[in-house]
Amino acid sequence: MCMSHMVDLVIFGGTGDLSTRKLLPALYQLQRHQLADRLNRIIATGRGELDPESFRNEAHANLKKYLPQDSWDEAVWERFCQRLDYVKLDAGNAADYAQLAELLNQSEAPGRLYYLATLPSLYGEICQQLQNASVVNEASRVVLEKPLGHDLESCRSINEQVARVFDEEATFRIDHYLGKETVQNLLALRFGNQLFHPMWNNTFISSVQITVAEEIGVAGRGSYYADTGALRDMVQNHLLQVLSLVAMEPPASLKATDIRDEKMKVLRCLEPITGENVKKRTVRGRYGAGAVDGEAVKGFLEEDAFHHADNTETFVALKASINNWRWAGVPFYLRTGKRLSGRYSEIVIEYRRQSFSLFANDPQELTNKLVIHLQPQESISLHTVNKKPGLTSKLKLQPVELHLTDESQNKGDSYDAYERLLLDAVHGDQTLFMRRDEVETAWRWIDSIIGAWDENSTPIKSYNAGTMGPNAATALLAVEGHSWHE
Ligand SMILES: NC(=O)c1ccc[n+]([C@@H]2O[C@H](COP(=O)([O-])OP(=O)(O)OC[C@H]3O[C@@H](n4cnc5c(N)ncnc54)[C@H](OP(=O)(O)O)[C@@H]3O)[C@@H](O)[C@H]2O)c1
Repeated sequence: MCMSHMVDLVIFGGTGDLSTRKLLPALYQLQRHQLADRLNRIIATGRGELDPESFRNEAHANLKKYLPQDSWDEAVWERFCQRLDYVKLDAGNAADYAQLAELLNQSEAPGRLYYLATLPSLYGEICQQLQNASVVNEASRVVLEKPLGHDLESCRSINEQVARVFDEEATFRIDHYLGKETVQNLLALRFGNQLFHPMWNNTFISSVQITVAEEIGVAGRGSYYADTGALRDMVQNHLLQVLSLVAMEPPASLKATDIRDEKMKVLRCLEPITGENVKKRTVRGRYGAGAVDGEAVKGFLEEDAFHHADNTETFVALKASINNWRWAGVPFYLRTGKRLSGRYSEIVIEYRRQSFSLFANDPQELTNKLVIHLQPQESISLHTVNKKPGLTSKLKLQPVELHLTDESQNKGDSYDAYERLLLDAVHGDQTLFMRRDEVETAWRWIDSIIGAWDENSTPIKSYNAGTMGPNAATALLAVEGHSWHE
């Protein structure tokens, strides 16, 4: 094994929920798939007094709990656990960093990857302490978990503090949506197929919908959600990232800079939503009591932590406009919410109807659609029409779905988004990570909506848990002759 490319990974927040459910299972899977050859040690940190052996025992139990059953292999674990270590570390305590430094300095691996999965308010301090402890070298990188701030100002402040220690080329802002196979497949679909590329514009496409629906409520996320709401929690990052990949111009190459330049241009072309148009362009919602999956659930304000959070939306739907040559006049409808009737994420590209129809039974709703499912299953289907089979004298149409997904993907070759992103971070590939200007531009757009909501006292409409949000979200599209793809 050549040590010159090896990387030691340090996880801040290594005992937390994200690390337990996502990061360690993803790292184990990399080991299982023999993709961990550039990973040296994995050092988890937390404030608890744990010896490394106890940490490994906990990791063993948690991995068995969170990994798919058929992924567990005791022999893989034996190799994986040799990499695992634990250091007690309080973000503000310089002495704890000295302990970490001692461990890192014993390593032959020149690369260091610091994964920050604690409260983002600690990111600046952690970076500074790492520098003070002299454990940041030219081969060091940092991964930052979301949320990066609460608004543009706080996002800038975190970015500034991190930038004092790590260059932009060494800073990896994660959005796990970008690690999904189907999101990356968007690039192949758009730019690898003559069939789609020439029609990817306002001449052929009538609307784009992006939905991220969740069945779960917000219990367990404490006061974080009360101060955040659906717009900041989901639209600022996941939905705008997906939107920018759907809408971007062909990049000069597949290099990170070229792709990120094009995504950035889309974000800059987003028409601001202001006090003038906010009521027509956005819907805020909050779930009341209802039933999800046959079980009665409480309303948001009935949860103990959220009694006073009566200005927090748990649902948002909005119409975004991208003011450029390709997309002028095409609405991008975004919606996301908690306690909805299903858990799924999808992108729907709806094509314009033909201007004339030869067929008597051509129902209005049978438009061509390209539906890209991101969650729970990843797949792509093209909704078309063909002839209804039979001997009737008149040609009749019927809908038919063409599935464009490689079936082998769902038979074992699939991987979790965190596997892809951790691997890319270890290899130093920034393509699927957000650049500073992207994140800040997205915040500027979101801040304008929040400012307009405050200025107009935009009401929050209630919806029953277990439905797809307030009726006003249906009306948002209906006034323009569209409807949500269900
Ligand atoms: N959980 C998710 O699915 C998810 C998804 C996307 C993004 N995120 C983001 O990832 C980050 C972590 O989330 P989480 O859900 O894992 O949180 P969590 O379960 O509350 O864990 C927080 C972690 O941070 C450590 N920590 C807290 N205060 C610290 C301090 N002063 N010094 C050093 N370590 C400290 C905790 O360790 P000790 O308690 O042992 O000290 C624990 O390991 C957050 O920024 C969150 O927004 C989480």
